[in-house]
Amino acid sequence: MKYLVVYYSHTGNNRFIAEKLAQDISADIQELVPRVKNFLLLIFSSLLHISFGNKKLSTSVADYDAVVLCGPIWMGQLIAPLRDFIKKYRNQFKKLYFLTCCGGGEAEKDGTFGCMGVFRKVEQTAGSAFVEAHAISLSLIPTENQNANPETMMGIRLTEQYFTGTFKDYYMQFKNKLRN
Ligand SMILES: Cc1cc2nc3c(=O)[nH]c(=O)nc-3n(C[C@H](O)[C@H](O)[C@H](O)COP(=O)(O)O)c2cc1C
Repeated sequence: MKYLVVYYSHTGNNRFIAEKLAQDISADIQELVPRVKNFLLLIFSSLLHISFGNKKLSTSVADYDAVVLCGPIWMGQLIAPLRDFIKKYRNQFKKLYFLTCCGGGEAEKDGTFGCMGVFRKVEQTAGSAFVEAHAISLSLIPTENQNANPETMMGIRLTEQYFTGTFKDYYMQFKNKLRN
């Protein structure tokens, strides 16, 4: 299988996961660079479903057996850079997987800000090429203060130090599915 990992990351967490995955499965990797860089504009364009698009990729999506799209969730949305990528290439995917390193965990997954709504949007947007979606939540990372509030948890910037335990197990579950 020839894999392409495509990612968008604002604060580096999804870049960390995407780079690790690309290395582990010997995939090519491409960063999505939105045409608009302003963070607030990206949030608004995600919420209001306005498209500014991304810069052109330097590789051809159609050349790959499978694409793994990796990026964050904001305000319970399939964020604009990810949505724009899926829309643009939906007819070229053979298989599309979605992977997110997000803030919300199992308890929140079906709520307004949870991953399940985003997964449904990915599936609707990608159509028949969609295979599956997987979330690795920052809430799986044990913090020094176990009562840390959600803001503290969302402030985590992934490094090798955090890539252990249950958090790593969730990553491995996804990675192993790709190899089977
Ligand atoms: C403005 C904002 C809104 C967010 N909203 C959500 C959310 O609705 N659900 C969630 O699970 N995580 C949410 N998060 C957490 C991010 O998904 C998480 O921090 C992610 O790892 C950031 O990825 P990045 O470092 O690749 O940009 C939000 C983060 C920000 C900054």
